[in-house]
Amino acid sequence: GLKIVVIGGGSSYTPELIDGFIRRAAELPVAEICLVDILAGQHKLDIVADLARRMLTRIGLDSKITTTMDRAAALQGADFVVTQFRVGGLAARARDERFPLQYGVLGQETTGPGGFAKALRTIPVILDICRDMTKICPEAWLINFTNPAGLITESVLTYTKVKCLGLCNVPIHMKMTIAKLLDAKANDVFIDFAGLNHLVWGRKVWHRGIDVTASVLEKMQDGAALTMKNIPDLKWDGDFLRSLGMVPCPYHRYYYMTDSILAEEQAAATTGGAGTRAEIVQAVEENLFKLYQTPELAEKPAELEKRGGAYYSDAAVSLISAIYNDKREIHTVNTVNQGAISGLPTNCVIETNCVISKNGARPLTVGTLPPEIAGLVQQVKAYEMLAVEAGVHGDSNKALQALANHPLIPSVRVAKQLLADLLSLNAAYLPQF
Ligand code: NAD
Ligand code: G6P
Ligand code: MN
Repeated sequence: GLKIVVIGGGSSYTPELIDGFIRRAAELPVAEICLVDILAGQHKLDIVADLARRMLTRIGLDSKITTTMDRAAALQGADFVVTQFRVGGLAARARDERFPLQYGVLGQETTGPGGFAKALRTIPVILDICRDMTKICPEAWLINFTNPAGLITESVLTYTKVKCLGLCNVPIHMKMTIAKLLDAKANDVFIDFAGLNHLVWGRKVWHRGIDVTASVLEKMQDGAALTMKNIPDLKWDGDFLRSLGMVPCPYHRYYYMTDSILAEEQAAATTGGAGTRAEIVQAVEENLFKLYQTPELAEKPAELEKRGGAYYSDAAVSLISAIYNDKREIHTVNTVNQGAISGLPTNCVIETNCVISKNGARPLTVGTLPPEIAGLVQQVKAYEMLAVEAGVHGDSNKALQALANHPLIPSVRVAKQLLADLLSLNAAYLPQF
């Protein structure tokens, strides 16, 4: 049977992942799920592992759940490695979400300066994991869920030989939400996705052979459609959607509604406000872990839906199954462009529809992006490529260029201030600088 290694195993998302393996047990013979964490996460890890065991026992599966702080030992014999760790924990995320606000810049964990700080903290760790994998399990697949997922996957695919796919739940979440809007079965809906992680568009939506894009956009205007638990549900502008003719992802609000979201964030972050998303998640997580310790609980609890990662298990486990079973099925993943989007470097990482087989991902041809979206994609990709260089080499010239080129940062003056702040706030996690 397969050995699955989960790095960041103490995450409150782990029961979601276990649920995915349970639902696909017939196609994926899993012998062991090894949950890896660090000392600081041991308490969470033990709680999550116990719940995972109860979940498996309840439905009579005999896959083994093991836990360890010894990553190298865990990687022995691994077939798939799933990364879902958070360097610096939610406290670091809360800082990422707060420090840009004083300069009138968005505070978000993956988009803008907050995402940049998270990338700098994460890159040294993911490269370390890849060094271990190259030595210990060179044939294993790395399914990277750790954010910013596109940028982290680009670091892995540019600087290591590890076989890696980057995964986000936004595409599957859009598919499920759009199927509901259309009152259709999810399996009957096909979305032509292309773009970058958290910057992906549904260029066309098909329902059993019929192009239904226009009617999806029409329905999206009625309310705060297409959002996720972690993103303010601001209403889309109807004229804008109609003229765009493509379905933006929930994260596009940060680019298309920057002023409104910034105002919401600033209000939430002041005394008496709801707090930043990280601060809200801290409370949600505390409740989740209380619940996880209930001996009678042997299922993924509904409360987990308060997190942004809905359908994560579906995306991850169906992807693993497509590789293992050589399904040649279409999934939306982060992988090397290889010319799929012309105008972007062939070796950069994009988020797009790919045929998934035992050989990995082959992106479907996209061609030239229309001017409505091409500029934003180019600019964010340039930022990401500079951020990868900054994060891998600890290069402060590239770091300044990354921030100065980011479309959500208004000036070089602000870019320099943001950089100085984030380097000092995160000094404990930036060995490369
Ligand atoms: P979390 O704060 O619960 O962290 C998960 C675990 O990682 C913790 O138990 C922590 O101790 C552990 N950890 C920290 N540093 C580690 C290291 N060096 N090695 C091993 N483990 C380490 O985080 P979470 O909210 O569950 O999110 C986990 C990650 O998944 C984050 O990076 C988050 O951004 C990402 N995520 C991605 C998506 C997506 O769409 N790609 C969706 C949801 C979450
Ligand atoms: C979405 C995104 C993730 C993000 C998450 C945050 O699912 O795709 O990349 O990390 O939400 O959720 P949270 O509950 O942690 O705010
Ligand atoms: Mn995501």
